[in-house]
Amino acid sequence: MTEIVRSKAVLRDKVLAWKRAGEVVGVVPTMGALHEGHLSLVEAAQGCDRVIVTIFVNPKQFNNPSDLANYPRTEEDDARKLARFRVDVLYVPGPEEIYPDGFATSVSVSGLTDMLCGAHRPGHFDGVATVVTKLFTQTGADRAFFGEKDYQQLQVVRRLAADLDLGVEVVGCPTIREEDGLAMSSRNLLLSDRARVKAPALFTAMEAMAEGLRAGGDASDLRAEAERRLLANGFTEVDYLDLRATDGLRALERLEDGVPARLLAAAWLAGVRLIDNIAV
Ligand code: PAF
Repeated sequence: MTEIVRSKAVLRDKVLAWKRAGEVVGVVPTMGALHEGHLSLVEAAQGCDRVIVTIFVNPKQFNNPSDLANYPRTEEDDARKLARFRVDVLYVPGPEEIYPDGFATSVSVSGLTDMLCGAHRPGHFDGVATVVTKLFTQTGADRAFFGEKDYQQLQVVRRLAADLDLGVEVVGCPTIREEDGLAMSSRNLLLSDRARVKAPALFTAMEAMAEGLRAGGDASDLRAEAERRLLANGFTEVDYLDLRATDGLRALERLEDGVPARLLAAAWLAGVRLIDNIAV
């Protein structure tokens, strides 16, 4: 069984010893409720000499208290799932290890965080950027592994790592999907059986929209059609369904020659906010 460390002091001693031996440290930051998507990150991290997986349900990135309260917490199961990998430490800090009394610092990445999820979840990316900066410094990671499923988050983390000279290589890994196309996410656990059956409609609508874009269609027309399909399939609200340039996430109305693009979406189904993105 993987060793669980809850104290940053204990973690620091281990990491210092690894660094002295010249070992490359990889980290997979998570909020737990691990699924095959997370495990693919742990798999990708196996090329590092040492692997740390972190589990911390970060209160600062939830803009809604009931969302935080309902977030699945499954530490024992998570530890069991990690047993098939080489994981040196499962770091599960308590809140005081991350946000000690009097904590007053926030890391804010401007520009990239004003749009998409940032526009719908005020403060969310400041919370993510702050905790990721703390996790990078506490783990002393040389490489950090993040899923492309949270595409905007990946861009934000890349930006902050570069801007703050954190010396971490941020590695993006492909989204892992269920057989019916639903992107794996800890939030899928919150879907009722009925809602779970409807959830793949998000990916299907995005695929159809991507096809229309490749055929030369306009994003606004195709978005309206995709929204109609989603609402007809039980979704209650679409926060966004946007065509964006892969680099910098500039909004696009149609595909442009030589500009790699992505379709990004967030939509509500039975009270659960699902996000997804695909390359177009
Ligand atoms: O993607 C997540 O699970 C979280 O946003 C992260 C990166 C672990 C920060 O809390």
